[in-house]
Amino acid sequence: MAQLIPETFIDEVRTNTDILDFASQYIQFQKKGKNYFGLCPFHEERTPSFSISEEKQIFHCFSCGRGGNVFKLLMDIENISFPEAVLKVAQDNNIPIPSDLQSSTTSKQEKLKSHPLRQAYREVSELYHHILMVTDYGKEALNYLMNRGMTEATIKEFQLGFAPPRDIVYDFLLNKGHQPEDLANSGLFINSNSDEKLRDRFKNRIMYPISDNYGNVIAFSGRTLRDDSDEPKYLNSPETDIFNKSKTLFNYQKAKKNLRQRQSMVLFEGFMDVISAYEAGVKTGIASMGTSLTDQQIYLIKQATSDLVICYDGDNPGIKATNRAIKLLDKKQQFNLSVVLLPDGHDPDDFIRSYGSEAFVNQVNGAMTTIDFGLQLLQRHYNLDNNREKNRICELSCELDCA
Ligand code: UTP
Ligand code: MN
Repeated sequence: MAQLIPETFIDEVRTNTDILDFASQYIQFQKKGKNYFGLCPFHEERTPSFSISEEKQIFHCFSCGRGGNVFKLLMDIENISFPEAVLKVAQDNNIPIPSDLQSSTTSKQEKLKSHPLRQAYREVSELYHHILMVTDYGKEALNYLMNRGMTEATIKEFQLGFAPPRDIVYDFLLNKGHQPEDLANSGLFINSNSDEKLRDRFKNRIMYPISDNYGNVIAFSGRTLRDDSDEPKYLNSPETDIFNKSKTLFNYQKAKKNLRQRQSMVLFEGFMDVISAYEAGVKTGIASMGTSLTDQQIYLIKQATSDLVICYDGDNPGIKATNRAIKLLDKKQQFNLSVVLLPDGHDPDDFIRSYGSEAFVNQVNGAMTTIDFGLQLLQRHYNLDNNREKNRICELSCELDCA
């Protein structure tokens, strides 16, 4: 296919693309002298050695030695061929692709995502979304989401879906041409003991697609429609060839893209919090997958930004989780951390429903330092205007230090 792309088109794309603008989708940069530096996306590092020269329109990592132009950067980041990179850069920059190349773009784009499992997750995500939006099966779930105040636009933006109460996914994927042996290890099914048949893992649940760092669906979390059910409230996909829980953050790709609007990412506990905050105008929200942050997730955040606001639930478990997150993040000493402590035990989603979007945005904009957060917690138990109580706190902290 390489010979199909004329040199003139390659040059046109290159001259109309700014490598810095392009790389900023993936990496956060700081200007040093003439060049821009950020953390290298190809290996873990603490100090930025990945540089971009705007003048020469090239990148170079002083640590791993990789370098090249914008096409090489995309080839390495997304693991694609040169022609694929040229067409993708053109598409991203709205540079019209000559019609004779267009069909090969579409088929190449398809191939790009052609890992059978990735393809299966994308198709199933579209299926669940369709069921939610336009079928009778989805009505109750759609009402549930609307009653929670979610707009249709948001449901579409996050491609939320519904898994009906009966087995549908296996036959659907077979009809799409998937092989039974691929499906067995897809994480989309459970093996029932009584027979060999694969049954849908997710049934009668609202489906939240979980995407990789480039926005491709790689897993699901499914929520029950009723809180009084005996089943777990959220059921998550198991790890697979394409889904590694500890390297995944809900909404990471969108949040990173939206860092142009707001400098900091906002870390939430739940998916619903990320989505409600998004509706309220805070579009840089992310959430870990119901567990405390891993080193890989912290590294992902750091690659995107150094400014992080922790906005967990305002109840006791949320406050404990905030303290744990501060400890984990402070250990790395690489973040400007701040904290939102929501009143009356609210989680961000209930807070927005009760007090509105503006009040929530004000909370995030007014996030306090971690020191003020610590002091505010102490004030719940001690009167900091009283010297004897202040003294008691000093004694306690000495005991902690000596322990
Ligand atoms: P929460 O119980 O706070 O849920 O769990 P939530 O985000 O407020 O959701 P709604 O408002 O009830 O719909 C926070 C996160 O913990 C994980 C999920 O990632 C959830 O978003 N979780 C929770 C699970 O993985 N499994 C569960 O059974 C419950
Ligand atoms: Mn909630």
